[in-house]
Amino acid sequence: MNFMEIATTRQSCRSYDPCRVVEKEKIEAVLEAARLSPSACNGQPYHFTVCRGDEAKAVAALTTGLGMNKFAAQAPVLIVISEKPYVKSAAMGAKAKNNDYRSMDIGIAVAYLTAEAAAQGLGTCILGWFDDEKIRGICGLDQPVRLVVTLGYPGQGDKLREKKRKDLEELVTWL
Ligand SMILES: Cc1cc2nc3c(=O)[nH]c(=O)nc-3n(C[C@H](O)[C@H](O)[C@H](O)COP(=O)(O)O)c2cc1C
Repeated sequence: MNFMEIATTRQSCRSYDPCRVVEKEKIEAVLEAARLSPSACNGQPYHFTVCRGDEAKAVAALTTGLGMNKFAAQAPVLIVISEKPYVKSAAMGAKAKNNDYRSMDIGIAVAYLTAEAAAQGLGTCILGWFDDEKIRGICGLDQPVRLVVTLGYPGQGDKLREKKRKDLEELVTWL
């Protein structure tokens, strides 16, 4: 798959095959893609906690507040992405330029991770709705959880959707 094929076919997967186990090598491949992503000052201010089995179920339950993300319970793997402290130079840059590089770094890493998952034939959904404190407790983390990604083989309900996006005219100014 070339990059544009991945970009057009990767979609938020909200239907998983709960019986199909994701091979460890495939989980390692998506984590490796995230590891190779760029970050401010190459600081990689994040940590990935791979949850399977009972831990996956427990984390999934903590993403379903107010009726959200019910599909997460089907996903055999949940990857919890938490923050790590900035490296010194990135901390200085973030302060001097009043910019949140860490969230950007996490977003880029998760973009790589989900793209590689698509290339591996796996479905993912990035979740920003979850109970940070309780997930930290399950995963033994002392830093905030910023995103959770569901991962698994897509179920029957996951049909390829046409992308709905703003037009380039709205998104881009050429000078
Ligand atoms: C930071 C972030 C948080 C998100 N949180 C959720 C979420 O909690 N639940 C959900 O179903 N989708 C969530 N999404 C998925 C978006 O809704 C989805 O990416 C967007 O609608 C575009 O659709 P696509 O991913 O299928 O192309 C999130 C995506 C991002 C990038």
